[in-house]
Amino acid sequence: MTSSIVLKTVMAASGLFFIGYLLLHMYGNLMILSGREAFDEYAHHIRTFGEPMLPEKGLLWVLRVGLIVAVVAHVWTGMALWRRAQQARTTRYVKKRSGYGNFYAKAMRWGGLAILAFVIFHLMHFTWQTVTIGEAHASPAARVIDSFGHWWGVAIYALAMIFLGMHLLHGIWGAAMTLGLNTSLRRAEQIRLTSIVVTTIIVVGFLIPPFAILFGLVD
Ligand code: HEM
Repeated sequence: MTSSIVLKTVMAASGLFFIGYLLLHMYGNLMILSGREAFDEYAHHIRTFGEPMLPEKGLLWVLRVGLIVAVVAHVWTGMALWRRAQQARTTRYVKKRSGYGNFYAKAMRWGGLAILAFVIFHLMHFTWQTVTIGEAHASPAARVIDSFGHWWGVAIYALAMIFLGMHLLHGIWGAAMTLGLNTSLRRAEQIRLTSIVVTTIIVVGFLIPPFAILFGLVD
C-alpha cells in the first residue's frame, strides 16, 4: 500500500503545479482589460507560440498534458486519502474526529469535487463551446465579453471562485505542512500569510475581468 505521506506529497506537488497554471491563466485573462484586440492577439499567440520549431498549439499541448497528469494525480490521491480516512473511522476504538479538522477535511473533499465540476463546465463553455452564455462567437474576446455581460454568467464564475478560494487557502497550508515547511511558530505564521496572499491574488485577479465586463468597463 502506498504510504499516506507519498500520496500527500503527490497531492502537494500537483497542487503547486495548478497554482502556477492559475497565476498564468489569471494574468492572461487580465489582457481583456486592454480591449478585444489585445485579448484575441494573446489567445492567438499562445496557440502559435514557438512556431515553426513547435507545431501549432504545441506549447498549449505540453501544458494540457501536464494539466491532465496533474488532475489525475490530484484526484486519485485525494480519493485514496478520503477512502483511507473513512476506513480509519470505522474502527470502533478510534474516536471519530470532529470539529475543526473534520470540517476542513469535508470542505476540501466536497469543494474539490465542486471545482472539478466547474472545470468540466468551464471547458464546455470556453474551450469546446458546447455551452454558450449569450451567443456563439468566433472571437475568444467576444465570447468572454458576451458571457460576462449576463449577471448569471458572472454569478456562476464568482461562485466557482469562492470554492476555489476556500480550496486554495487550506490547500496551500496543507501542502506546506506535507512538505515539512512548518519548522517554527514564525514559519507557521508565514505559511498562513502566504496562503492568504496567493489565494487573494488568484481569486481577485480572476474576478476582475467578469465584473469589469458586467459593469460595462470593457468594450
Ligand atoms: C473568472 C475565471 C475564469 C475565466 C474568465 C476563464 C477564462 C477562460 C477562457 C476564455 C478560456 C479559453 C481560452 C481560449 O480561447 O483558448 C479558458 C480556458 C481554460 N481555463 Fe479558464 N477561466 C477562468 C477560471 C479558470 C479556473 C479557476 C480554472 C481551473 C481551475 C480554469 C481552467 C481552464 C482550462 C484548463 C482551460 C483550457 C485551456 C486549454 O485550452 O487547454 N479557468 N479559460
